[in-house]
Amino acid sequence: MNNSSSASVSGADSSAFSGRVTTVLQITDCHLLSETGKRLLGVDTEDSLRAVLSQALSEFAPDALLATGDIAHDPSAEVYARFTAVVAEYFTGPMLCIPGNHDLWAPMRSILAEPARLDLEGWQLLGMDTHVDDDVAACLRPTDEARLREACVTAEGTHLLIACHHPPIELGSPWIDKHRIQEGGELLEWLSEYSCVKGIVFGHAHQMVDTSYKHIAVMGTPSSCFQFVPRSQRFTIDTTMPGYRWLHLSDDGSIRTDVRRVEDYPLHIDLSQGA
Ligand SMILES: [Fe+2]
Repeated sequence: MNNSSSASVSGADSSAFSGRVTTVLQITDCHLLSETGKRLLGVDTEDSLRAVLSQALSEFAPDALLATGDIAHDPSAEVYARFTAVVAEYFTGPMLCIPGNHDLWAPMRSILAEPARLDLEGWQLLGMDTHVDDDVAACLRPTDEARLREACVTAEGTHLLIACHHPPIELGSPWIDKHRIQEGGELLEWLSEYSCVKGIVFGHAHQMVDTSYKHIAVMGTPSSCFQFVPRSQRFTIDTTMPGYRWLHLSDDGSIRTDVRRVEDYPLHIDLSQGA
């Protein structure tokens, strides 16, 4: 069974996709709970994270792992330590972890490194922290904008992939859209002035998004636990499987990307087990 949900190339014709390739595995919205075995909306979120990592790492050995927020649902140093321990069972390479609205910065930072950037072959993976402790809404900080601008003007032949938690665009779901990066349109517009910016990837929406703004690929990724129904008008849980995204970054600046879902997972949604 081919459980691939999307495969696209941006920045270059697919026939031209060649040369040195760096592979990044994106996982997002893991929502780990205070104790192993606890469930959220019926889903054992640690178990589904293991299912995602197990399947993904059987497909490729990535050069880096990207986690785009809501790593913890019950944020504490113990939960972030459990996240790193679970990941380490499958992958021990470089990792960039960005906070989401369910994360708390102090306990997260006590375990995980600051989400500034990862330097990969020919690429910079730039983390942008749009979270605010105890607030669902996105915040685009002037310091992050300044850092992105600096990276754009000093890229010197490297390609840039930006990673954040909140979507920079509207997705057609008002209950999700109200917490997007409100300045996302302006952000994408000035980023598009730089040919080195190839993509922006996010989480939060618990669904696959593959679109573009001018030459920039705009990519949202399914959660490693439960999903939201695309274009739903109110909070609505989907029955699609936990997922993840492969990002194959070519040294010619093109991105080949593929969202995949775990196969044969016993997903059981129970709305009485609240979010
Ligand atoms: Fe989330």
